[in-house]
Amino acid sequence: MTTVLDVQRYKDEGRHFAMLTAYDFLSARILDEAGIPILLVGDSLGMVMLGHPTTLPVTMDDMLVHAKAVSRGARQALLVGDMPFMSYQVSTEEAVRNAGRFIQEAGMHSVKLEGGGPAIVEITKRLTEIGIPVMGHLGLTPQSVHTMGGFKVQGKTDAQAARILKDAKALEQAGAFSIVLEGMPSKLAASITHELRIPTIGIGAGPATDGQVLVFHDAFGLTTGKAPKFVKRYANLAEDIARAATEYAEDVRTGKFPGPEHEYSTNGSTPAKDPTEVRYGG
Ligand code: KIV
Repeated sequence: MTTVLDVQRYKDEGRHFAMLTAYDFLSARILDEAGIPILLVGDSLGMVMLGHPTTLPVTMDDMLVHAKAVSRGARQALLVGDMPFMSYQVSTEEAVRNAGRFIQEAGMHSVKLEGGGPAIVEITKRLTEIGIPVMGHLGLTPQSVHTMGGFKVQGKTDAQAARILKDAKALEQAGAFSIVLEGMPSKLAASITHELRIPTIGIGAGPATDGQVLVFHDAFGLTTGKAPKFVKRYANLAEDIARAATEYAEDVRTGKFPGPEHEYSTNGSTPAKDPTEVRYGG
């Protein structure tokens, strides 16, 4: 199983690594078997799974449902539960309780928090001390969408860049095992990556970070329309599904489906031993 020590080793050995988001049992199993070392149950699920315009409405209960499903599907990957808005901002006590739920109830191995101000640094320190590994998240932090005035690239001015670097160092000092750097100039991400001992994981932060992360639906083309600049689409599942759905409907309409091979008979054919093998590919 991938651990936080492996992730540190990747950096120490100069090995770039991939992280992907996962939100359900089957996709987690596919990504895990494909060898993706880190799966993030991101609060982006609010947008790509639940249809909200931002991540702000996502609750701890929403996160736990998806985190539990992912942990049932993954065997090898390091699992990261993303702390949703208002699950850690009120007090360190609440942050500890909610982070603990990710570990105890949902089988996550670590949690991720957005931001790097003194309160978040304090929570990072406390969680690390009690044995809950913390992944930081700096730059474009979607839970602060209203403070940022939209989903905007951060760290473009010298002052902003200096603050993000300072926050990154404070999170490292507090015990974070890695930091996501989102939506920032490549040069800034490169200098943070160079300055830190712990690995950085970029999304819209250029090629120099130690790891890269993409949202499942972006990477595999389930989100439609023009992809953001930082996204590379590795499949076009929305098109494939739409084509397949049209073909299925046409087959039903014309009587081509179900065919004889899809029918059960009263004699002869062996019934399935384990229905899950038949329904979910074992
Ligand atoms: O919620 C999420 O998916 C994330 C990644 C984009 C890093 O935070």
